[in-house]
Amino acid sequence: MERRRILCAVSGGIAAYKTPELVRGLVRSGFDVRCAITASAARFVAPLALETVSGHRVRADLFDRAEEGEIDHIALADWAELVVVAPATANLLARMAIGMADDLVTTLLLATRAPLLVAPAMNVNMWRHPATRGNVEVLGRRGVRFIGPESGALACGWEGEGRMAEPARIVAEVTLALGPRTLAGERVVVTAGGTREPVDPVRSLTNRSSGKMGFAIAAEAARRGAEVVLVAGPSALPTPPGIRRIDVQTALEMRDAVLGEWPSARIVVMAAAVADFRPADRALQKIKKEDLPEGAAPSIALVRNPDILAEISALPRDGRVVVGFAAESHDVLDSARRKLERKGCDLIVANDISREQGGFDSDRNAVAFVWPGGPVEELALLPKTEVAAQLWDRIEKRLGALPRDAGAEPSAGASR
Ligand code: PMT
Repeated sequence: MERRRILCAVSGGIAAYKTPELVRGLVRSGFDVRCAITASAARFVAPLALETVSGHRVRADLFDRAEEGEIDHIALADWAELVVVAPATANLLARMAIGMADDLVTTLLLATRAPLLVAPAMNVNMWRHPATRGNVEVLGRRGVRFIGPESGALACGWEGEGRMAEPARIVAEVTLALGPRTLAGERVVVTAGGTREPVDPVRSLTNRSSGKMGFAIAAEAARRGAEVVLVAGPSALPTPPGIRRIDVQTALEMRDAVLGEWPSARIVVMAAAVADFRPADRALQKIKKEDLPEGAAPSIALVRNPDILAEISALPRDGRVVVGFAAESHDVLDSARRKLERKGCDLIVANDISREQGGFDSDRNAVAFVWPGGPVEELALLPKTEVAAQLWDRIEKRLGALPRDAGAEPSAGASR
């Protein structure tokens, strides 16, 4: 497959030391990356470092005949499907805002028709200066998208806004910006992670779900242009770009969040590991062994939690697609088939958690798509990001077979 083409423009600030990591991240994500740097950027980052990670000669000079011979600056501006400026100094923002073309980088930025993603980095007072604020506003009105800057300790010794966004965040934004848009206009709800059912103020019943599978599904839907709401149980994972996240703790909270989003969603994917039971009573104070007879342990009565997937699957479907997951340790396909029938959803994604790799808290997963009426598609052990892509390919096919105007009411708040 042809790789998507990114031009990375680098200006001269201390944050340029992070640019090789950014380029490496983009290349690892499958992009073809070429770099163009200003004269001052070359004082902060070695062109050889960028050349090594990108696999292409770095462009620095508008008038270098050898460089221009390989790919001239207008061809390079046309080549790019997306331009990332990282770091963007106050000086470069000012030159962009007034349309200067006095070196290779500004000429490329003026000549390209590709979308621009800009990651500023500078001293906090320079960032807050009315001149910079004005330049950012002008560029924003022209459609330039800003990533950061982030707040924290700055290289100049000040604290505050001005740090370049982390390379991983920029890679995620680039991936989102270049997504295939096959889900544009669709509203999606994804659940992820385990629920946590409190026993007392310090203890709870939970499981080993990390949220990785659900977050990957949400991220892939956003990358394809969907409006995504991620209902997440406790998870340390960062929210993927372009997603509205609702954090919940318990199964009851997850149910409220999913039912609240249901009217405006067309697709619901329940990847969460929801606790089937919760303590009947939550102790308001910590249960102490000293309060019990010597050697005794408390017994905790449990009650059933609502089955969210079964509940939404029983609602009028109106052209919606509802997908459930099943983590099974034995009789994987038969158990998944029974779950599909019992819960009444459109598809069950069965995970075989008896394998050494995959399932809970792993970066990979081995799944089978179990469809009503019997068909089963088994996939190899794959990264969860790839499982997510395969799942969306299937859901898109199914959506294609449904009437387009069915289902979801327009949402009030789910804008991105
Ligand atoms: O989060 P990770 O570490 O990446 O792990 C991913 C995963 C293994 C948790 C995920 O891929 C997965 O399999 N999730 C479902 C876990 C499971 O077995 O759930 P279940 O069999 O209890 O439920 C089946 C389906 O009903 C699931 O879609 C679940 O979200 C839903 N359910 C379950 C119970 C309940 N009370 N309400 C529900 O909606």
